[in-house]
Amino acid sequence: MLLKSKILQSLHEDHANQLQLLSLIELEIGKLTKIGRAANFEMISLALEYCVDFPGRYHHPKEDLIYETLIKRDPDIAIRAIALTEEHHKLNALTREFATAVGEAIDGKNVNHLQLTADRFLKLYRCHIDIEEAEVFPRVNRALTKEDWIAIDQAYSDSNDPLFGEHTRQSYIVLQQRIVERAALS
Ligand SMILES: [Fe+2]
Ligand SMILES: [Fe+2]
Repeated sequence: MLLKSKILQSLHEDHANQLQLLSLIELEIGKLTKIGRAANFEMISLALEYCVDFPGRYHHPKEDLIYETLIKRDPDIAIRAIALTEEHHKLNALTREFATAVGEAIDGKNVNHLQLTADRFLKLYRCHIDIEEAEVFPRVNRALTKEDWIAIDQAYSDSNDPLFGEHTRQSYIVLQQRIVERAALS
């Protein structure tokens, strides 16, 4: 699909990055049930910190504004668009819950709760991205006007992605290297 807006294109690219991050989290969580393989809690914590830092602060709020505009242009998709906006709040809450569960597991408490929280987080995140990509972004692409995109662009100035952007933040370098290594293997 040819995306007419640069903003939508960059949100689409964010999704590919987020999916890479989710696979890395899944891989680390999977080690909890494998004998002799220790999960890298530092890597999981960094990945969750990033979810708050960038998707939570920039990607989701930008989508919220786009969906608000979409509902005006294409009311038939309103139920879906509202549900996605609500899911952004759920994802933020679930990210915090997941981070707390990681902290508890580091302290040797309740690893089972960590696995369940991770499953819920991964399922909701992936399902959310699937719906955006398959159903909602094509409608956004069709319905929003040039003026809409100018207004959205003015409302949200672009920020550098601290992990996948041009300048990776120092604290994320270890995570970025791990993602690059995994990408090279696949
Ligand atoms: Fe979203
Ligand atoms: Fe998204």
